[in-house]
Parts: sequence; structure tokens; C-alpha cells
Amino acid sequence: MARLVVIDGVPCAPEEAKISVYDRGFLYGDSVFETVRTYVGRVFSLDLHLARLERSAASLGITMPVSRDVLMREIVAALANAHNEESYARLMITRGSGALGLDPALARTATRVLLIEPLTMPPPETYARGIRALCIPTVRASDAAHSAKIANYLASALALRDARAAGADEALVVDRNGLVIEGTTSNVFAVADGRLLTPSLESGILDGITRELVLERARELGLAIELRALSPAELSASDEVFITSTIRELVPVVVVDGRTVGLGVPGKWTRALHRAFRQHVGAAWVFGED
Ligand code: PDD
Repeated sequence: MARLVVIDGVPCAPEEAKISVYDRGFLYGDSVFETVRTYVGRVFSLDLHLARLERSAASLGITMPVSRDVLMREIVAALANAHNEESYARLMITRGSGALGLDPALARTATRVLLIEPLTMPPPETYARGIRALCIPTVRASDAAHSAKIANYLASALALRDARAAGADEALVVDRNGLVIEGTTSNVFAVADGRLLTPSLESGILDGITRELVLERARELGLAIELRALSPAELSASDEVFITSTIRELVPVVVVDGRTVGLGVPGKWTRALHRAFRQHVGAAWVFGED
């Protein structure tokens, strides 16, 4: 099980990994990133993740330091060198270093940092039992960044801290319209009256790759879809709720704001969609029987 770091294309040991203290990613969170994972050792949807990274960088006016091909080769090589059963890779592109000052024009060349970590998903009981979520109103830096996947997760980190302090496992972000739009590092779905609901991209959420794959599986299963965000009260009154992300796939949510969702256990559509997702990515079902 190995952790590896590659900085501007140069591999180095994690304990020796260093970037400039004048790097704008460090100073101002002036940075974008992607998280990818492997399935059976092979990186999954790398092209979609790098395309999103390029969109995020472009929306911030950060010039990518190397081509997508170079990034692909770097990530594939680092994953191969890690020799993990499953890995996840976090690729960050900062605007780079320069003289101290907020003006983005002070930085010249983007910095890229690639972290390879052994991947351990949440334990099977997380998927068999579900998690508790708390809806927390907050305003995120990404709201000003056209939904780019930016590095600045401070508002979400504080929301997660508050949710954990209140005995929940996850925070769900409530926007200024009072609607639940996303998890701290996930998209959010509900099932109500036989329909699958999830906020539209226009609500300012991240265009999640897992979210899109789940919507495809729902269409294949003949589940009606409605792109609409719900209020916390509507969400907790739904029949099913789940969150989605690259690392965790689909995680059932069985308590929202202290109220039991449905029967208080992972819903049948949540499990069916997750089974279909796992089949799509070529991974075995390991989350218990229904
Ligand atoms: N990001 N929304 C937010 C705010 C996220 O941070 C993430 C996950 C998602 C899900 O996107 P995707 O299905 O493409 O992973 C939605 C990664 C996992 C992270 O933060 O590491």
C-alpha cells in the first residue's frame, strides 16, 4: 500500500513533498482539483475528470501547465507505481507562485500536485445501514466560481464540523433559497412518489460524474427523473435519500435533520441504483443482501 506524490511531474516521497510558500493554492486557495479512483486497479473515467479539471481551470483563468495527454500519462504511471489494490488520486492545479498580492496576474506558471493514496471505501455497514445528515445553510467559495471544482472547501469543512458536532455524519448544503443542493463533497438525490429527484446543474452544484452515471442507470431502470432541489422538510419527508461521489459511490441517508427518512433503512431504489452502478463500473456487489 503506497502513498506517492508527483509535483510538476517529478515523483517524490510524501514526507519530502514541498511546494513554495508563495504558491497561490496555499496562500489564497487559488486552485482547482479533481479526485479520481481505480476499479480493479484501472483508473475510472479519467477523461471525464480531466475534461472537468480543464473547465474548472478555464473558468478561473488558470492556464493548464501541460496537456491532457501528459496529465493522463503522469496519473497512470503514478497509479501503476503505487501498486495499491485500489487507489485514489487527487490532482491539484494551482495558479502558481509569484510576488505576494491578491492580483492573480502576479502568478506566472501553474503548479500541479498529484497525490496517490490507497483507496478504502466506507465500511459495508455504512451502505447497509445508511448515514445521518444535517441540512446546513452556507455560502461556498464555489458559488462565485461558476461551479468550478475549486480547492476552497472552507465553508463545507465548517459545515461538516457542525454536522458532526450535532451527531450527524454528513452536512447537506442549503443555499440562499432555502433549498438542499449538495453534500459537502457529494451530490444529493431523493426518491419520492416513485420519482428520482436531484438538483439541476443550474442550482450551482458540481456536475458530478457519479451523479450523471446514476441518472443514466435510473433511465435504464425506467425510474422517472425530476431535476429539482428540495427544502430540508421535503427532503426528510422523502421515501429515500442518498448522496453520490467518486470515492463513496452511492451512500444511503436514513436520517435528515433528526427525522427518519422512509423506513429508516436504505431504500429499494437506492440499492437498485447502486447495484446497477457497480455493474456499470465492473465492480462486484459487496454491500450486503437486500
Ligand atoms: N468531489 N459535489 C461536490 C462539492 C464534491 O466535492 C464532489 C466530489 C461531488 C461528486 O462529484 P463526483 O461524482 O464527480 O465525484 C459533488 C470529490 C470526490 C472530492 O471532493 O474529493
